[in-house]
Amino acid sequence: MAVRSNLVWLTLALSLFDPTCNAGPVRQREAVPDGFYAAPYYPTPYGGWEDSWKESYAKAQVLVDRMTLAEKTNITGGSGIFMGPCVGNSGSAYRVGFPQLCLQDGALGVGNTDHNTAFPAGITTGATFDKDLIYARAVAMGKEFRGKGAHVFLGPSVGPLGRKPLGGRNWEGFGSDPVLQGIAGALTIKGVQEQGVIATIKHFIGNEQEMYRMYNPFQPGYSSNIDDRTLHELYLWPFADGVHAGVGSAMTSYNAVNGSAGSQNAYMINNLLKDELGFQGFVMSDWLSHLSGVASALAGLDMSMPGDTQIPLFGGSPWKFHLTEAVLNGSVPVDRLNDMATRIVAAWYQFGQDKDFPAVNFHSYVSNEKGLLYPGAVPASPIGKVNWFVDVQADHASVARQIAQDAITLLKNDDDFLPLSTKSPLKVFGSDARVDPAGANSCGSRACNKGTLGMGWGSGVANYPYFDDPITAIKKRLEDVKLYDSDNFPLILTPSPTDDDVAIVFINSDAGENSFTVEGNHGDRDNDKFSAWHNGDKLVQKAAEKYRNVVVVVHTVGPLIVEPWIDLPSIKTVLFAHLPGQEAGESLANVLFGDVSPSGHLPYSITKKEDDLPDSVSKLVKEIIGQPQDTYSEGLYIDYRWLNKQKIKPRYAFGHGLSYTTFNYTDAHIKLVNTLSSALPTARQPKPSVPVLSTEIPPASEAYEPAGFTKVWRYIYSWLSKSDADKAYAVGVSSTKSGSKTYPYPEGYSAVQKPGVPAGGGQGGNPALFDTNFEVDVTVQNTGSTHKGKASVQAYVQFPADSGYDTPIIQLRDFAKTKQLAAGESETVTLRLRRKDLSVWDTQKQNWVAPGAEGDNGKSKRYTVWVGEGSDKLFTRCFSDTLVCERGVESPV
Ligand code: NOJ
Repeated sequence: MAVRSNLVWLTLALSLFDPTCNAGPVRQREAVPDGFYAAPYYPTPYGGWEDSWKESYAKAQVLVDRMTLAEKTNITGGSGIFMGPCVGNSGSAYRVGFPQLCLQDGALGVGNTDHNTAFPAGITTGATFDKDLIYARAVAMGKEFRGKGAHVFLGPSVGPLGRKPLGGRNWEGFGSDPVLQGIAGALTIKGVQEQGVIATIKHFIGNEQEMYRMYNPFQPGYSSNIDDRTLHELYLWPFADGVHAGVGSAMTSYNAVNGSAGSQNAYMINNLLKDELGFQGFVMSDWLSHLSGVASALAGLDMSMPGDTQIPLFGGSPWKFHLTEAVLNGSVPVDRLNDMATRIVAAWYQFGQDKDFPAVNFHSYVSNEKGLLYPGAVPASPIGKVNWFVDVQADHASVARQIAQDAITLLKNDDDFLPLSTKSPLKVFGSDARVDPAGANSCGSRACNKGTLGMGWGSGVANYPYFDDPITAIKKRLEDVKLYDSDNFPLILTPSPTDDDVAIVFINSDAGENSFTVEGNHGDRDNDKFSAWHNGDKLVQKAAEKYRNVVVVVHTVGPLIVEPWIDLPSIKTVLFAHLPGQEAGESLANVLFGDVSPSGHLPYSITKKEDDLPDSVSKLVKEIIGQPQDTYSEGLYIDYRWLNKQKIKPRYAFGHGLSYTTFNYTDAHIKLVNTLSSALPTARQPKPSVPVLSTEIPPASEAYEPAGFTKVWRYIYSWLSKSDADKAYAVGVSSTKSGSKTYPYPEGYSAVQKPGVPAGGGQGGNPALFDTNFEVDVTVQNTGSTHKGKASVQAYVQFPADSGYDTPIIQLRDFAKTKQLAAGESETVTLRLRRKDLSVWDTQKQNWVAPGAEGDNGKSKRYTVWVGEGSDKLFTRCFSDTLVCERGVESPV
């Protein structure tokens, strides 16, 4: 049997051989620094009250009502790791027509299969700053997931947000800014879900580094200690946008937040996600991070993935048969189970999966046509057809190529060195210029760095159907090309370089999930840090000594420090091509040779040195005993927010990106769409009550294992033996009668549904937060004479100086990309500012406050909206009070 090795090893490694696992006893909750607290919040708010979900809930209730207890608990948990074709396989309730759901990675395409597209990574997609392309990628990905029969797409990833530049998984998301992540995440959800596939927003929340993320029997995962305002204004922000877009599922994080583990954090799930953000879908655990049976149920978890206990493959589970038992014995309230099951079934209806959804036609762990149906059950697994090799690629390569191309970010281009002429002889250096000679998929989960870096490593990858590498594309344009594919500069160059020779040096920097260690990096870039891998900086320096004209191409998961070579006189041009996926070659050649102008912009800042950022951000936490404490002491000040506050000039600021042409911004207008007439949003509507199914403990017979059923070894089922079910039921009904509880409920536990927090009221929060208050129109003209180009227009808000709140100097709030503009051509783009964009989270009021709104005196305070082509290139500003725009002003930072 041929094994798709990546996930097998990923998961085994993840669960058993976590490279940062250390000895020490697990404690339930370790102390976190003062001021950080995950308060109790119970019970879990019911889903189903939000208008756009009502119909699906009504249908779901009918179906769930027909399920037995064991059927309900079955659909809330996976069948076990490697126990089915997908990365996660939920239980079914076929008797009433509810199928097993297929949950599949990864965030850049259908993972662990064949005939799929390997799209550019999230970070690359973010660097396009192009909403249409972000959406087009999602539509194409959604079609591929559906075509493979995957019900649930395990993406987008908007957490990590990218707080720590060395964090291992930032590249799966869209950039180090909540608005960039929020807009891109929401468009991804929209595009995928429109294809009838449930999207999963992840990882909720605070998973900003990889090392020490997981709880293991010896050490708790790290605690991200985040204050309330920072949580709302940075980390929760993209989740709010995702929920506003109607996302169907969410995945909790491995780590703890303020001391409480992600999969059982009642404050985060019950309060923030389900009450304040009004999330109507279902919440799943990240793989093997489900730690407790009852506590997690009460805290709002709805689905256990992949179903096992932390140590998998022994048929154990925190839920399934245990959840059945816990409902029967009265420890998990029946209404909680009904809500879990209804949320799952409602999501299935919401995206039309009850009608014509294709059957799963691939297997994540087997690559042959026939093989083990349940590889985790080896040797007891039945064998059968598992792969139909369905080609779902259609014409998606063109979307992938367009994104890879439009993300390429020109950081420097002295003397307009690029585009290259097709006549200049080229010398190409670095192993990153060509595909891994052993094959693009030679390393499972891409956990190696041996050729052009198209994606990071871990569960966020997809198999390449082919790999268009840069050297092949360059050679198609030019005959006189020589590749030196070693990462060591040649000792002798024959013939010696001439003045006309151009050297292109390819370097890279990789990162991924903590389940693998690659060249000493444990997921995060803890070994190579901000330097290029394979001594890339040295390769660039050497090339710069020998050649007069050097172009540096960087494939990277995030920022690098480019100081060792950036100012060398022969370094003419630097291109960040990010992680292009399968379309690395033509996309780059099109830019190098001037078929198109580069139009990508940096989705993070590139600092001059590590210390330009605070330690809490630039360093990784590494306590080896007890719970590592990752305290967000920098608060709101990450990336450009920090640099601006500290008046530190980065080498290249967030949003920076050059073109072969130039753009002028004229005719800026700000329009008042809705007056900000009060600091607080209009009060939310009361939460409508939802119909509730019977809350009686069901008869024990609903849990009995069917007679004569042949179980698959290690497969996780939800039935109990008759005697266990009867015993549990007896406890349950007697404790209900006596009013006593058998389970020690958490502090602050209540079974009474709350009316809903003031900041809630709709999907994503109070609907008034999403009302547009201002629109800014600006006309962008291509003022060059030769090249066509696309401009990225970015809008940043500056809060009123006398707002009474400490706010970052400027914060991104919207962006737009023009179409391809010919020389002299213009386009008018519109940027919008919503109430939430003009508000801060007030920790006393527990609400969003717009500090510039009209006060009792009828006067409003001035917000300034800065418009430009990078966070440090904002030469147009508009005022919210006078509705006047000015151009040619000095950038605020
Ligand atoms: C762990 C990862 O953190 C998550 O993103 C992924 O979806 C699951 N494993 C499933 O592979």
